[in-house]
Amino acid sequence: MSKNRRIRILIVGIGALGGTIATRAVSAGMPVWLATRSAESARVLRSSGLRVSGIGGTAIADSVPVAAIEEYAEADKFDLILLATKAHDALEIAPFLSSLLTPGGTLLPIQNGSVSQILADRLGSVVVLGGLSNLGATMVKPGIYEQRNAGHLLIGELAVGLSGRVAKISQDLSGAIEMRVTPNLRGAVWAKLLLNCSVTTIGAVAAQTMRQYMMSSGGREVFRRIYDEALSVALASGTQPERMIVEPIPPNWQGTSVPGDDYNVWIDQIMATYGDIKASMLQDFERGLRTEIDFINGYVAQLGSQIGIPIALNAAMTDMVHLIEQGQIQPHPARLDDLLQRVSSSEKKSG
Ligand SMILES: NC(=O)c1ccc[n+]([C@@H]2O[C@H](COP(=O)([O-])OP(=O)(O)OC[C@H]3O[C@@H](n4cnc5c(N)ncnc54)[C@H](OP(=O)(O)O)[C@@H]3O)[C@@H](O)[C@H]2O)c1
Repeated sequence: MSKNRRIRILIVGIGALGGTIATRAVSAGMPVWLATRSAESARVLRSSGLRVSGIGGTAIADSVPVAAIEEYAEADKFDLILLATKAHDALEIAPFLSSLLTPGGTLLPIQNGSVSQILADRLGSVVVLGGLSNLGATMVKPGIYEQRNAGHLLIGELAVGLSGRVAKISQDLSGAIEMRVTPNLRGAVWAKLLLNCSVTTIGAVAAQTMRQYMMSSGGREVFRRIYDEALSVALASGTQPERMIVEPIPPNWQGTSVPGDDYNVWIDQIMATYGDIKASMLQDFERGLRTEIDFINGYVAQLGSQIGIPIALNAAMTDMVHLIEQGQIQPHPARLDDLLQRVSSSEKKSG
């Protein structure tokens, strides 16, 4: 980039999270452009303008530089693309996005789970950083967003360590969202993944909060076994999960969790934050939307099989979520005993 050229940032996916960040960025006068999936969605946003309210205060943008993603093929290249679609869409659109980057430009996916790593592996020469949002946002309708907490965007290299480019991008985006950097982004991603695999997915298939399903012996067993498998995969893949809410490794853990007073205190710490929250995946079921299960428990199952770590519960959970998505079964507390039964009968079959 020439010294005098101002950085150009493209935000792709103007939904709950992308819309919230984009509104704050445009209203702060940052050099951002916005991309929607369709020309019709772009037209709606141009005429409505953007508004975010809630935690962090209100921001309004009347004049919105937005177009359908394919229209950017003819535009000047971008130094940074913030990819804020859902995971499946991110994988689909990423090869096209790499053609919109300046040489050495950066793709920053901010989905939960494994998207950044998958894209880095697939796109080869493109610079892909990892991003993790603990900012919670909802879209009331296109153009109207609500920020639900005072969260931040954590970014880092996918390999361990800090870098100048991460610090620079953190600076570039700090006008729109609170930014933090970490030398162990994979560890942070896994810390969230461990809780998404357990707290969120179990709550979704059971249609219960964590506090509710942890009252049943089936719920406690599913939680313990899903978490233990996922943690074993993280550690075997060379990742040291970071602390998030709790220490990622349960007390006295020896490859499996050890039930007892220490373990119960650890569970209570998780419950204090997540015990009463309705799982976002349950909302996806209710709205008939495709979930991100393949990038959560599905990723754990896939990586575990590759490196030889048992992942029966995560694999069965992934299958069960697909059956719910297809309408073949419904979320219900009884699904947790079904899951244990499925795993136990396939373990008996395989000897
Ligand atoms: N919302 C949160 O609080 C939050 C917090 C942490 C992490 N996350 C993660 O962030 C990601 C986005 O979540 P979200 O809640 O913001 O989802 P969302 O509200 O569904 O927004 C995704 C947006 O991406 C658009 N999109 C899809 N494909 C596109 C394409 N090819 N080009 C341009 N735009 C495209 C969608 O448009 P259409 O409607 O036309 O499909 C939609 O507006 C997810 O991976 C989620 O797990 C979200």
